[in-house]
Amino acid sequence: MTPAPESNFQGPDDETPAADFEVSLRPPLFEEFTGQEKTVERVQLLVDAAKQRDEALQHILLSGPPGLGKTTLAYIVGNAMGTEVKTTSGPMIEKAGDLAGLLTNIERGGVLFIDEIHRLQPAIEEYLYPAMEDFKLDIIIDQGPSARSVRLNLARFTLIGATTRAGMISAPLRSRFGMNCRLNYYDAAHLHKIVDRSAGLLGARIESDGALEIAKRSRGTPRIANNLLRWVRDYAQVREKGLITGPIAASALSMLEIDEDGFDEMDKRIIEGLISLFNGGPVGLNSLAVAIGEEPGTLEEVHEPYLIMQGYIKRSPQGRVAMPRAYRKLGLEAPKNPPQGEFFED
Ligand SMILES: Nc1ncnc2c1ncn2[C@@H]1O[C@H](COP(=O)(O)OP(=O)(O)O)[C@@H](O)[C@H]1O
Ligand SMILES: [Mg+2]
Repeated sequence: MTPAPESNFQGPDDETPAADFEVSLRPPLFEEFTGQEKTVERVQLLVDAAKQRDEALQHILLSGPPGLGKTTLAYIVGNAMGTEVKTTSGPMIEKAGDLAGLLTNIERGGVLFIDEIHRLQPAIEEYLYPAMEDFKLDIIIDQGPSARSVRLNLARFTLIGATTRAGMISAPLRSRFGMNCRLNYYDAAHLHKIVDRSAGLLGARIESDGALEIAKRSRGTPRIANNLLRWVRDYAQVREKGLITGPIAASALSMLEIDEDGFDEMDKRIIEGLISLFNGGPVGLNSLAVAIGEEPGTLEEVHEPYLIMQGYIKRSPQGRVAMPRAYRKLGLEAPKNPPQGEFFED
């Protein structure tokens, strides 16, 4: 997934240049992880139970838009279990042998974290089922007449899968996870706390109003909040005396063309395109993506979920539809007859 040039404040994966900075701000303990209370409580309970019984933890699936803390939680779980976390991602496992290499290297009770697990090849998924269920891996070695199946016994391990596309996880894979957690967007109060914590770690001087201004413009996403904080800190250092106040945060973010609702260039382009080029929709994902110059996958996984959650657009079986809030955002009057019909939840 390639982020559009405009969206350099929300690298969807950990391979972005911001990675080091991100790792340094990652809370290592459940206690330092802000928000997502229900998920944290459930996962922590599983961890406590597994530790009391001295067993491996159940497999856990974490889903939700980029930057909400899936990778962070996986590491927190590993930390709490006192075990190492081996990390890979769906597209990186190309052959059954790659999977065998990973699984045979895990210690008892260890954690394997597979990011973007919806992008695992179907054939690899098949190998994963018995590994998750019975801690066995049947692999075929050699080819032609000498081909034979070899069964490998694995240590009891925990698989933590992360996905931005819960809907793309096959039913058999989903059913093999003991717990399925969906992370939600954060409200401004939680993001405020996250910004304060990060500012402390970065040694940035920030007033409460400054932190709130950043929180409100972060599209409900801690990764964006941290990235905006970094920008605002630079701005305050170069243009001001270093202290981040509310007005200074607001000017710094206006300079990036991030408005009070956290909209960036791409968000504006999406609703403008939908309304002015497609008369408010419904329009299919691919047509909309071409019109605004973004990849359909990025549009769907990175940009749309927030706009949908905030009620600017909806997804229907016929395509994307602009809601009255999108018209108001552009200073336009919403059509008299609001779109009717069936909408997808998600
Ligand atoms: N609940 C949280 N509390 C504090 N920081 C968080 C929280 N969730 C995410 N972050 C920070 O946001 C950044 C992105 O989180 P990450 O776990 O990589 O997101 P994801 O894997 O869901 O894309 C990290 O730097 C992390 O420290
Ligand atoms: Mg991640």
